[in-house]
Amino acid sequence: MDIQGQNIVIIGGTSGIGLATAVAAQKAGANVWSASRSMDKVSLCQTNHPEIQFSQVDTHDPEGLKSLFQSAGRINHIVGAATGADRTMLPFMEQTDEQFREAFNKFWGYTNVVRQGVPFLVDDGSITLISGTPARKCNPGMSSVSCTGNAVEGLIRALATELAPRRVNGVAPGIIDTAMFDRFGDKKAAALENIGKGILLGRVGAAEEVAAGIMLAISNPYMTGVVLDVDGGALLP
Ligand SMILES: NC(=O)c1ccc[n+]([C@@H]2O[C@H](COP(=O)([O-])OP(=O)(O)OC[C@H]3O[C@@H](n4cnc5c(N)ncnc54)[C@H](OP(=O)(O)O)[C@@H]3O)[C@@H](O)[C@H]2O)c1
Repeated sequence: MDIQGQNIVIIGGTSGIGLATAVAAQKAGANVWSASRSMDKVSLCQTNHPEIQFSQVDTHDPEGLKSLFQSAGRINHIVGAATGADRTMLPFMEQTDEQFREAFNKFWGYTNVVRQGVPFLVDDGSITLISGTPARKCNPGMSSVSCTGNAVEGLIRALATELAPRRVNGVAPGIIDTAMFDRFGDKKAAALENIGKGILLGRVGAAEEVAAGIMLAISNPYMTGVVLDVDGGALLP
């Protein structure tokens, strides 16, 4: 499918995977609306990428999402790439119920994106949501991330059946070098290099590599209900 001239809305599109997708889609000739919560990120992105329309929205604000979708008008593709929640990386038995439940706000954010976006989506349009490797390969301490990812992947399959002929797919990134790892501070590069050594391809991934997977999900007209793994082989033993 040629996406030239098509309208694409990306929620969580001011950083990392979402921003890389916005840039890739714009380069492929699409009209791109890209949004997130932080006005600082929106302004910086708008300066760096004037050809993309950036705006402020929170996945937990249905009215804000609705007006963003309305402003884009007839939408061909929706991408949900927002983090949308804090995640607590602790063994399940060491987490509070509140901490565990908080991770699911990513999922509830995606349900808002779908509910508000579908009325504006064309019949041959697509939705792509981002899950993650922990959905299917969970290390100790990642139960909340794993369960949230599984919920997202379940939603993808359920919606693919209900929303057809509109297509619904997912992309599951492995460890990708984005702002998600800024918590390592000035040790980030060394930490990611070290993590990369344990991955089949010997390195962590780049946001642009995941964006390429999202572009495939958007543009292949015979692909629905699929979760595409872009993880350097992380699911293999
Ligand atoms: N990087 C990885 O290794 C990895 C692995 C597996 C899965 N993922 C998933 O990939 C997706 C993208 O993550 P990333 O690595 O690209 O992280 P990132 O660089 O931190 O980007 C996250 C984006 O989501 C936006 N965002 C967060 N909460 C939001 C909300 N409630 N409403 C609207 N926008 C929101 C952020 O902007 P604001 O702060 O301005 O809202 C930002 O634009 C996430 O769903 C993440 O869980 C990432």
